[in-house]
Formats: sequence, structure tokens, C-alpha cells
Amino acid sequence: KVHTVAVLVGSLRKASINRKLALALAELAPPSLKLQIVEIGELPLYNEDIDVSPAPAPYVTFREQVKAADALLFVTPEYNRSVPAPLKNAIDVGSRPYGQSAFSGKPGAVLSASPGAVGGFGANHHLRQSLVFLDVPVLQQPEAYLGGAGSFFDDNGKLNDGVRGFLQKFIDAYAAWVELNAKG
Ligand code: FNR
Repeated sequence: KVHTVAVLVGSLRKASINRKLALALAELAPPSLKLQIVEIGELPLYNEDIDVSPAPAPYVTFREQVKAADALLFVTPEYNRSVPAPLKNAIDVGSRPYGQSAFSGKPGAVLSASPGAVGGFGANHHLRQSLVFLDVPVLQQPEAYLGGAGSFFDDNGKLNDGVRGFLQKFIDAYAAWVELNAKG
């Protein structure tokens, strides 16, 4: 069976290294996984006052896209040692209405990347804290805190071979994790 994966990218900028890494992962994924980026940039800031029937159209679309997927993959930078606000907002939107979370039970993985040395560790683990509550079983190994990300892609957009090797290991381990934990 082919499992579909909703990929949430924590950076909204066009030239995002994390978006490039997400696209590279989509190419490296084995045939058993189909990765699709679900856009989060147009979601209004979560507010219970507007999340009433009918819910805002971007909320409805986002929740449907996540619910339709078998699994979740988060690829994110770190902002101020934590999860970038757009990604946290998407998590909050997808988690509601109470009792109808779009994420519940879907196997996940987190990859963080930063030009800095710490590789987005803070964002990676703060995100994992939310995923515990949301009942998302998250891949443990290999851990993916990718530092020095400013030099991952050359001027022609070609990915560094060492990084590609790691991404291949990561996505293969994730595919096995999804196989083991996907409900569908
Ligand atoms: C950053 N950046 C950053 N980097 C890091 O390693 N730890 C951090 O805490 C922060 N904090 C932070 C806050 C804000 C508001 C911005 C805009 C940036 C730098 C960040 O890692 C860098 O801009 C990355 O290139 C962002 O990822 P994308 O957009 O390339 O995917």
C-alpha cells in the first residue's frame, strides 16, 4: 500500500532551506510513501471566536488535507529556540474542534534544520512536546537536527551528497515507521 504523508514546513519564505529539504525528501522517499506539502501560510491566527460553524474556509481545507493523509512529516527551522509561529498556529488549527483533531494517531517525524550549529534542536523538541499531547507517535531515530544548513545547497540548487545520504537514511527509517504505525 502507498501511504500518503502531509508535510508541514515551518518556514513561509520562498527560498526556505527547510522547504527545499522537504522537496528533497519527497524525491528520496521510497515508492511506499507519497509526500505532499500542505500549505500553512494562509491560516488565520487561531481564535476560538472565529472557529464557529461555519469554520473559516482555510481552517476547513487544512483540516481536510491533514485528515486525508496517513502520516505526518514536520520540516522546520527554529525561531528563538522554539517552533516558528506559523507552524504552531497550524498545529493549533488542526487540533480543533476539541475531540476532532486532524492529527490524532497518525505516525509522524520531525526534521529541523538551521544555518546555526544547534540544528533547530529547540524547535524539534518543543514540537515533540505538542505531538505527545496530540497522540502522534513520532519516529525516534535517526534524530534529525541539521546544523550548518546554509551550505546544504549550492548556487545551482544541488544538494550536498553527505546531507542527501542522511536524508535517505531518515526517510527510509520513517517509511518503516509509517508502515508499522499507520492506521490506514
Ligand atoms: C531565526 N533563526 C534561528 N536559527 C536558529 O538556529 N535558532 C534560533 O533560535 C533562530 N531564531 C530565529 C528567529 C527568527 C524570527 C528568524 C527569522 C530566524 C535563523 C533561521 O534558522 C534561519 O533564518 C533559517 O534559514 C530559517 O529557515 P528557512 O527559512 O531557511 O527554512
